[in-house]
Amino acid sequence: MIEIDGITKRYDGNTVVNNVSMTIEPRTVTVIVGTSGSGKTTLLRMINRLVEPTSGAIRLDGEDNRSMPGFELRRRIGYAIQGHGLFPHRTVAQNIATVPVLLGWGKARIDAKVTELLTLFQLDPAAFSARFPHELSGGQQQRVGVARALAAEPNVLLMDEPFGALDPIIRAKAQADLLAIQRLLGTTIVLVTHDMDEAFHLAHKIAVMDKGALVQYGRPAELVKDPATEFVQTLIGTSERPFRLLSIETAGDAVEPGPAGGKPLAETISQRDALSELLWAGRSALPVAAADGTILGRVTLEGLTRRAAKPQ
Ligand SMILES: Nc1ncnc2c1ncn2[C@@H]1O[C@H](COP(=O)(O)OP(=O)(O)OP(=O)(O)O)[C@@H](O)[C@H]1O
Ligand SMILES: [Mg+2]
Repeated sequence: MIEIDGITKRYDGNTVVNNVSMTIEPRTVTVIVGTSGSGKTTLLRMINRLVEPTSGAIRLDGEDNRSMPGFELRRRIGYAIQGHGLFPHRTVAQNIATVPVLLGWGKARIDAKVTELLTLFQLDPAAFSARFPHELSGGQQQRVGVARALAAEPNVLLMDEPFGALDPIIRAKAQADLLAIQRLLGTTIVLVTHDMDEAFHLAHKIAVMDKGALVQYGRPAELVKDPATEFVQTLIGTSERPFRLLSIETAGDAVEPGPAGGKPLAETISQRDALSELLWAGRSALPVAAADGTILGRVTLEGLTRRAAKPQ
């Protein structure tokens, strides 16, 4: 658990993060959104003390982060940033091993971890371990950056616009990988993004920053239902509201009993994508299948319409 308690950061009398308090539950994904300059990166970097707060405290599982030595913070908190995060003169394997080496892990343990992470991110260890960052595509570099942040098996992963530079297809893949890894390892993730679609897709909870203040912190559906300010409303987009609601949950969550013809939908796709498939197929219902092909039931136009309506 991360408790951010009345945290403030001032630069030369300028308040860039203003008395922010929020509690981040373990094993969840929290997404921080807000306009440029609203203090998102500063807030994130106060969690791992790359920035020292002017006042307030941050506790990790009840322990003040100022009482933790640097190596302990690095072990517990991974940090991934957009773009040039990798060391250019180190191989992929050496990049991923950065923190384990600092922590004094043995060679066998490090090698095993590098192989495990490359495999997890679908980068063949035999082909990629010895390459240098400039010999990778942007998307591959990004995945190595996240693998490096995860290498010391941190409980917490801080990510600052990690997918910003990726094209939409690779980005969707990177998001899916991240969610799969989060479920597998139970990592607590705090992620900054400008992209509201990404926020709604990934977040258990969304924190909205405006001019250094935390203006709303809640589940995605709560933000759609009860935006705290005009700014939150604008960020969500009035015309997007029903689709935002449908993008939070999966087709599997909307399954109803009953038969339906047509090509089955994967249970893992969003309800928004399921609606799109229904409209495109010109059908009022389609079957939903599990990964092994088992038919779980169906989703219906009527059911999705109900779910897209303003929550009562
Ligand atoms: N080291 C610093 N010295 C002085 N001012 C700073 C420093 N770091 C950040 N700031 C200022 O603090 C404010 C918040 O910056 P921050 O990087 O947290 O914003 P952000 O929300 O991450 O923005 P973006 O979306 O553009 O990345 C900005 O006005 C910035 O100019
Ligand atoms: Mg930033």
